[in-house]
Amino acid sequence: MIMKKKLLEIRDRALSELDSLKNLDALEKFRIDYLGKKGHITSLMKNLGNIAREERPVFGKLANDLKDEITGILEKVIAEFKGKEEGGDKIDITLPGKRPLRGYLHPVNQVNSEICRILVRMGYTIVKGPNVELDYYNFEALNFPKDHPARDMQDTFYVSQNVVLRTHTSPMQIRVMEKQRPPVSIIAPGKVYRSDSDVSHTPMFHQVEGLLVDKGVTFGDLKGTLTSFVHQMFGSDIKLRFRPSFFPFTEPSAEVDIQCVICRGKGCRTCSFSGWQEILGSGMVDPAVYGFVDYDPEIYSGFAFGLGIERITMLKYGIDDIQLLFRNDMRFLKQF
Ligand code: PHE
Repeated sequence: MIMKKKLLEIRDRALSELDSLKNLDALEKFRIDYLGKKGHITSLMKNLGNIAREERPVFGKLANDLKDEITGILEKVIAEFKGKEEGGDKIDITLPGKRPLRGYLHPVNQVNSEICRILVRMGYTIVKGPNVELDYYNFEALNFPKDHPARDMQDTFYVSQNVVLRTHTSPMQIRVMEKQRPPVSIIAPGKVYRSDSDVSHTPMFHQVEGLLVDKGVTFGDLKGTLTSFVHQMFGSDIKLRFRPSFFPFTEPSAEVDIQCVICRGKGCRTCSFSGWQEILGSGMVDPAVYGFVDYDPEIYSGFAFGLGIERITMLKYGIDDIQLLFRNDMRFLKQF
């Protein structure tokens, strides 16, 4: 049984050597060393004559099995090496290329650009301002009484007692008027924040503010401007209506509804079966606001409006859950 032990030794050595071989030449040398005419296994078999007669068949079988095993493994390893050397790592120029994922403008950004483009064409200038805003600009100078519900902790993210994340883009009205005498015609796109989250609310969303102040500006100008805007945005056949409303910084105030773009006014789930969808708040600048920026309300008048970009995006594309706009699911985003 010394021979059997020898066989096992050869097997161990062969297997560990195989593991460390790095190229086809080394593999060929290994083949000759073990399986060649003068190789380790072959030599052992030639020694068959030296062992006891009755042990010969057992040993012969063991030696043959080992030869088959090593041959099998060696063939596999050689095939693997050949695969690698013959272009496994090379580029197959006949295969179609892998396209890198291309970036797109987010639908909210696309709609924001479209809104701004329409308004800039009408003569408005784009201005930008801080997202972290003083209570003074966000509320006080916009004529919000101290106990107005919009100041409630439920809606407003407070940074400190006098600093908030702006809850709307209207503070830009004050920031612009404070610095500039009329005529003023600006739009202010940007992020706004409210502590709210459901299918139609997210804690951060986007608005575009509009402000026009000059001599002799009337509610008729407001109506004409917003009607033209809606027709350019949604098509000239879409109906809109001005619904009386209230904002502390405009008087009179109106919310603008457009005919539901999903059901075209017939009534559906999206419009709560009313046939209408609210898209913006607006009104004539309240004279009280002019007091904060030192404009003479006897000489100047103007209008302001604020539209929600997500809302318009949802209406334009028939999206019924605002959260979809913020989930960054490529399957959703790729459709725009
Ligand atoms: N800032 C108001 C809001 O966010 C919208 C608005 C803007 C209303 C300008 C009137 C004039 O609800």
